[in-house]
Amino acid sequence: MGRFFFSFLSLLWVPIIFPTVMALPLYTNSRWIVDGEGQRVKLACLNWVSHMEVVVAEGLSKQPVDAISGRIKSMGFNCVRLTWPLFLATNDSLASLTVRQSFQNLGLSESIAGIQANNPSILDLSLIQAFQAVVSSLGTNNVMVILDNHISKPGWCCSSSDRNGFFGDEYFNPDLWVKGLTRMATIFNGVANVVGMSLRNELRGARQNVNDWYRYMQKGAEAVHSANPDVLVILSGLNYDKDLSFIRDQPVNITFTGKLVYEMHWYGFTDGKAWESGNPNQVCGRVVDNMMRLSGFLLEQGWPLFMSEFGIDMRGTVVNDNRYFNCFMAVAAEHDLDWALWTLVGSYYLREGVIGLSEYYGVLDWNWCDIRNPSLLKRISTLQFPFQGPGLEETNRHKVIFHPLTGLCVLRKSLLEPLRLGPCTNSAAWSYTSQKTLKLMGTFYCLQAEELDDPATLGIICTVPGSKWELISDSQMHLSTKVGNGTTVCLDVDSSNNLVTTTCKCISRDNMCDPGSQWFKLVDSARSSNSKEIF
Ligand SMILES: *[C@@H]1O[C@H](CO)[C@@H](O)[C@H](O)[C@H]1NC(C)=O
Ligand SMILES: *[C@@H]1O[C@H](CO)[C@@H](O)[C@H](O)[C@H]1NC(C)=O
Ligand SMILES: *[C@@H]1O[C@H](CO)[C@@H](O)[C@H](O)[C@H]1NC(C)=O
Repeated sequence: MGRFFFSFLSLLWVPIIFPTVMALPLYTNSRWIVDGEGQRVKLACLNWVSHMEVVVAEGLSKQPVDAISGRIKSMGFNCVRLTWPLFLATNDSLASLTVRQSFQNLGLSESIAGIQANNPSILDLSLIQAFQAVVSSLGTNNVMVILDNHISKPGWCCSSSDRNGFFGDEYFNPDLWVKGLTRMATIFNGVANVVGMSLRNELRGARQNVNDWYRYMQKGAEAVHSANPDVLVILSGLNYDKDLSFIRDQPVNITFTGKLVYEMHWYGFTDGKAWESGNPNQVCGRVVDNMMRLSGFLLEQGWPLFMSEFGIDMRGTVVNDNRYFNCFMAVAAEHDLDWALWTLVGSYYLREGVIGLSEYYGVLDWNWCDIRNPSLLKRISTLQFPFQGPGLEETNRHKVIFHPLTGLCVLRKSLLEPLRLGPCTNSAAWSYTSQKTLKLMGTFYCLQAEELDDPATLGIICTVPGSKWELISDSQMHLSTKVGNGTTVCLDVDSSNNLVTTTCKCISRDNMCDPGSQWFKLVDSARSSNSKEIF
């Protein structure tokens, strides 16, 4: 009977449909990226590498380009950050090499055979035409493109001493860079799916300084905008795209509006082995504070901040990456960031001298055939939908209880079923009151803990012990309450994703334990929700 009641109600749960057809080009509206109708477009991108020695988008020896583009779309991504080396736009003898010649010059005959088999029409195109063919295939598949000037001299990026790091370095002549940006912006003027240009990836090295940053970034931004006023102009910070703190005191001075976006990068290894060697609550608290100070503040100042690189080893075995990623997921949901995952690439034609190097950060496997880690991809896919922003009903504003470890949210339920996690598109709508109760909106019910190791429940008398939830620990991600006999418990999930209350884990110091299952984030959402109908 209970089950019948539950499934009958689930018929009423109208899935949220987000628009997939948008009116390009894109603009900015405060911290949001919006389409021509003013509706939010959340960038959910994959990085696709095309800046290596061969200067051909990776993977074309493994799968037809349209199959790859279609795959990107079917995995739920709406955009690609497509990397390119400056010299493709400034060196005509490089740009006019054919794909075949470029592979031949590097002795990559096996890749030639692969391209012959999978993409015969690309093999004798010039490198710039092949690049355009990839953009065009993405367009046909309704995938937006952000052109990312990743490096100058084709090859793997980045190191502080690779002479591609900052204006004035051997391979980074500012005038040539402006020329290349102008060229690229011009080539793609009128190509609707090219929605943005990242002016330069990961500035770095001994030469970096704030004065030159303003001097040249402003110049580059103006050059791109006058060659192609349709694209978003995306600016990266210093120190490998971590530091935009200087913008706080000195805004960028440009002549155009509604097109400026900032970008940042954040990996597990950004903080060395801190995640593995430290207490995850403390590391998450400290690293996020730092990140908000260096870049995150831009959101509060009303600028879009595009997390244009993040990612982990998809094999799932690297502790440092896994701990970082729980913290990342919470931040990305809380701020509802636009983002680009590193990377689509399953393997490279040639990277750092190794032919066919496998990319463990890649969504696809070595053959560009299967998804390396479907459950991790599913978890990331929860971030593909906007929680907030123009186009969503502000009157629906509520909190969702987001669980970074699974990418799931606490679901709406009938009173007869245990509280559990499920897709955030079906999330219950909560309010976090000044009495620190978590109330199911439109009802009298609130989240309650009964006893240690019991299921969490919904109760109607929200003043009894176990109803008042504090966000504790340095990460502020444990939801903790005191139950009737005075024991402090934390919200947790069991192996079936049911909500339970357990002893709070790893609150301080201990660096051996992982609190991930007890991490929750109260995320602002304006998605439509019909929890009221359940009762
Ligand atoms: C231009 O590209 C060609 C072909 O790759 C290369 O031989 C030449 O050195 C490049 N010139 C410059 C100035 O980088
Ligand atoms: C901003 O740039 C314009 C010209 O591009 C210049 O006239 C103006 O002085 C600049 N303002 C600041 C505050 O630097
Ligand atoms: C409260 O109850 C739990 C088990 O239900 C028990 O483990 C704990 O010791 C009790 N705490 C106190 C302070 O009595």
